Amino acid sequence: MATGELTQDGRARVLADGTEIPLLALGVWQVPEGPVCENAVRWALEAGYRHIDTAQAYGNEASVGRALRDSGVAREDVYITTKFYPGSRDPEAEAQRSLERLGVESVDLYIVHWPQGGPTWAWDGMQRAHENGYARSIGVSNFNAAEVDALLKVAEVAPVVNQVQFSPFEFRRDLLAACEARGVALEAYSPLGTGRHLRDERVAEIAERLDRTPAQVLIRWALQRGLIVLPKSTHRERIEQNAQVFDFELTSADVAALDGLDGTGGTDQALEQPWW
Ligand code: A2P
Repeated sequence: MATGELTQDGRARVLADGTEIPLLALGVWQVPEGPVCENAVRWALEAGYRHIDTAQAYGNEASVGRALRDSGVAREDVYITTKFYPGSRDPEAEAQRSLERLGVESVDLYIVHWPQGGPTWAWDGMQRAHENGYARSIGVSNFNAAEVDALLKVAEVAPVVNQVQFSPFEFRRDLLAACEARGVALEAYSPLGTGRHLRDERVAEIAERLDRTPAQVLIRWALQRGLIVLPKSTHRERIEQNAQVFDFELTSADVAALDGLDGTGGTDQALEQPWW
């Protein structure tokens, strides 16, 4: 199947390296290590999620691994992403440590968490992690269009994803277009605005009309925009609700109305205010 195409069930897409990535993931940013994280991951797997997105910086890889093992779902049926914390020096060595914490032989995707120190220095180590089989795919996060370009100039193995803050309110249209044009799939983190966007009355109006929830509308918008989407929740009923997004469609008018909520001016920047 060609890059960007969806699989037959419409729940995964093909990345530029030929691997398949489930479109919906549970994100576990700000979920504490221990029972809270283990429960969230277990409930997600029970609800049909097959993609979990963690990071070295989140401090909860061990819980993700434990929940995966306890779930009874086969390792090869779950897509696991972790991220290189760029305050460390060696992506290859840190990948090995992640694998130990997760208790798996490889992750499906390993991404540079943010371009601290510039967009290219970590890539050799990322490529080694890939070559040695620690990660099936490699990618980046929080990269602007120019940073993606700078990396593509020197990369032997190209990044297959760029994970950025993305929602109708942060509809980084130029960044999305630049990534797609370069074969880099965009992953949307904080698709609910870390909860803020759920209270917007324009989102609520669409949700009410469709007899859906604001969270489902925001997640569905991301899917219809061709994104991989990573909503976070630690509540079982919300985790389940957020997965009920493949049985309805937004009209093109509703997608356009949501597009109109953008406050970034359609930027090609990944963030308004970098934290590093
Ligand atoms: P909680 O984890 O307590 O369920 P984002 O994915 O943009 O980071 O947003 C996550 C935030 O949105 C969290 O505060 C989460 O709360 C909340 N949230 C996630 N899903 C839902 C939902 N379906 N309904 C209400 N709040 C939700």
